[in-house]
Amino acid sequence: MKIDFANLQHQYQVYKKDIDANIQAVLNKSNYIMGEEVKLLEQQLQYFTGAKHAITCSNGTDALLLAMMAMEIQPDDEIITTPFTFISTAETVAFLKIKPVFVDIDEETFNIDPNKIEAAITNKTKAIMPVSLYGQPADMDEINAIAKKHNLKVIIDGAQAFGATYKDKMEVHHCDIYTTSFFPAKPLGCYGDGGAVFTNNEQYAEKMKMMRVHGQSKRYHHKYIGMGGRLDTLQAAVLLAKLPHYKNEIIARQAVAGKYTQALHSSVKTPLVKENRTSVWAQYTIRVENRQQLQEHLTQEGIPTAVHYSIPLHLQECFQYLGLQKGCFPVSEKVCEEVVSLPMNPFLKNKEIDYVAQAVKTILK
Ligand SMILES: Cc1ncc(COP(=O)(O)O)c(C=O)c1O
Repeated sequence: MKIDFANLQHQYQVYKKDIDANIQAVLNKSNYIMGEEVKLLEQQLQYFTGAKHAITCSNGTDALLLAMMAMEIQPDDEIITTPFTFISTAETVAFLKIKPVFVDIDEETFNIDPNKIEAAITNKTKAIMPVSLYGQPADMDEINAIAKKHNLKVIIDGAQAFGATYKDKMEVHHCDIYTTSFFPAKPLGCYGDGGAVFTNNEQYAEKMKMMRVHGQSKRYHHKYIGMGGRLDTLQAAVLLAKLPHYKNEIIARQAVAGKYTQALHSSVKTPLVKENRTSVWAQYTIRVENRQQLQEHLTQEGIPTAVHYSIPLHLQECFQYLGLQKGCFPVSEKVCEEVVSLPMNPFLKNKEIDYVAQAVKTILK
């Protein structure tokens, strides 16, 4: 059997009619930049999340930049985040000359450990930036309580978790600004680069709308230093075709995850979703001690795997200037050696899930 990791080709076949029609409509109109599909998508995203404002942008990395720029966080200010994430989370902080301050993660969820946040707060701290890793929200009540006590903003990097809920509400309702990515392999992906920012705050929304088009308040009037951060109309057209199916895709991902866990939990450390929240399962990530051996075996069996992530951010060369060493964040360092993600997409069939689970178990015996 040959298993596909994200199965984007199959996904395209399933929605082909609507995707092709939407793309063709853009081609016919040639409204490639900020066409009406962008506006329409933003309305649909607002409806989907219940957010007052959904603002699309070029990708999930620029979404983070827009959030921090709207908050006017300054060079030498500090933002607290996790070292166990994709580079964008802290890269964007550093790109704006803000200092990323890392706090170790909770071993059970892979998300920032709220119990360790207060010790990292200084008089330069301006925001906390949790990441909803693998699709699961962080401990938002605890994080928001700390933010309130210390007068800090909260930005959720939800690049992997669009549609995930915390206490029955989408994550935008648990922070000042929520960002996401529509990178093709993300739970809701477009067919190129894409992203969005969400907020219930009027001022941030106005600013981010301007920031993504070079800080422009009206044509060629530049109120802020901004960026070229628009979403392409063609990508909006793809997302408009896919969004109506997304709720069902999340349910299907949750079912796949449930089946994996049922088949594997007695043999290996399977992921845990905490109470009061849902995951959209961007990844299904297990922990094993003999990772390389497992990956090699699965490759031989036609099962692709991925490691998210093998090096924590504080040990990346680009962050050497922070002066952090091995040992600073032991939980992140440990999980970096053990995590491995199995194929995850809403189209996985029972027999494929069983096949993967069986192959994993064979090597662990
Ligand atoms: C946690 C996290 N933050 C940010 C990003 C950046 O998103 P993009 O690739 O759309 O720039 C990604 C994914 O790629 C991500 O996983």
